[in-house]
Amino acid sequence: MNRFAHVTGWGMAAPDRVLTNDDLAKMVDTNDEWILSRTGISERRIAEPGESTATLAVDAALRALESTDINAKDIDLIIVATSTPEYIFPSTACIVQDKIGASRAGAFDISAACTGFIYAVNMAAQAIRTGSIENALVIGAETLSRFTNWEDRDTCVLFGDGAGAFVLQSSDQPGGVLTCVMRSDGSGESLLSLPAGGSKLPASHETVDKKQHTIQMNGREVFRFATRVMASATREAVSLASWELDDVTWVIPHQANMRIIEAAARGLRMPIEKFVINLSRYGNTSTASIPIATCEALESGRIQDGDHLVLVGFGAGLTWGALTLEWVLPERKISRAARRRRAILVFLARVRSFVRRLRRKIEGLIWGTSSNDPI
Ligand code: COA
Repeated sequence: MNRFAHVTGWGMAAPDRVLTNDDLAKMVDTNDEWILSRTGISERRIAEPGESTATLAVDAALRALESTDINAKDIDLIIVATSTPEYIFPSTACIVQDKIGASRAGAFDISAACTGFIYAVNMAAQAIRTGSIENALVIGAETLSRFTNWEDRDTCVLFGDGAGAFVLQSSDQPGGVLTCVMRSDGSGESLLSLPAGGSKLPASHETVDKKQHTIQMNGREVFRFATRVMASATREAVSLASWELDDVTWVIPHQANMRIIEAAARGLRMPIEKFVINLSRYGNTSTASIPIATCEALESGRIQDGDHLVLVGFGAGLTWGALTLEWVLPERKISRAARRRRAILVFLARVRSFVRRLRRKIEGLIWGTSSNDPI
């Protein structure tokens, strides 16, 4: 029996405290017009003293679980993607495991910077599809504000705090997570990093004085890299799913910069309206940005049953990746009529896709161009 990994629950958490561009203009030499026009960001959320990556992750996880028909004890695996963990060790995932009472779950963190959520969803989906687990909780959570140099206008305007979580469950119903591409290029390690606090540069008075415990970034180079990989990763994941770009209903990109998202849309020749964007209200929340954007799109009813989604991101490492997902709501969440409508929509989409591939194959035979697509 084929097993599929479906997203059956989702939840997000963001601190209440809002830091606007005007607030930042009182802290560094910047202004609302510059930040908005160069990044698309208007405000971001900042963790209060009692909040941390784990507390945000726990809140998002509990909300995600509430939206499913399973409870914490049914979770087999918890993966937290984060670049701002609670500690170097133990993992933030273990803290979440304890706080939510997931007594049967294995738990670990993934460090793939802002691409981490895509990597983590793919890892969980693979474990479900191979049959080694039934239910997984995947969380992207960050408190980047704790690692921001609030005197550096190049970086402090960009980042925000938050968390988003997916519950993934095994099902024999086709759909869910379909394909994923994960890429990296460590030669870009210095373009975006948090240099101190690890084994190379343990904390010392010197590292603190030099502000090496805060984010260091070459913005222009990261911008260039991001505009290059967003479109290519999307194309690769879409092609692996045997979709065409036209088949994609929504692209949910990492929310780093509006100009990067616009460049990706241009590169893919896709209308910007197909991109889920909430960057202006949260800034760049790293691993949390894709699940937070997905949660908001689901809650506003934009993502519908049968939609074809692409999640695509990039970040420090350098890392980048894209994942395709056929959004199929769990049976219990939809009415009988909606289920029938969904079955018809999914069937028609598959027929359309088959006809397109068949046409390409026939054209290939007639014109002698090669097509390796399996029909
Ligand atoms: N307010 C006002 N001026 C600022 C500023 C700010 N917050 N930050 C930088 N500037 C200034 C620069 O000092 C520079 O001044 P100069 O021309 O006198 O030297 C000028 O604005 C232009 O700087 P530049 O770096 O060329 O701006 P940019 O258009 O490349 O935008 C970023 C800067 C950071 C917004 C952009 O490079 C970016 O988004 N890069 C990707 C970053 C990213 O996404 N990181 C996370 C990846 S997960």
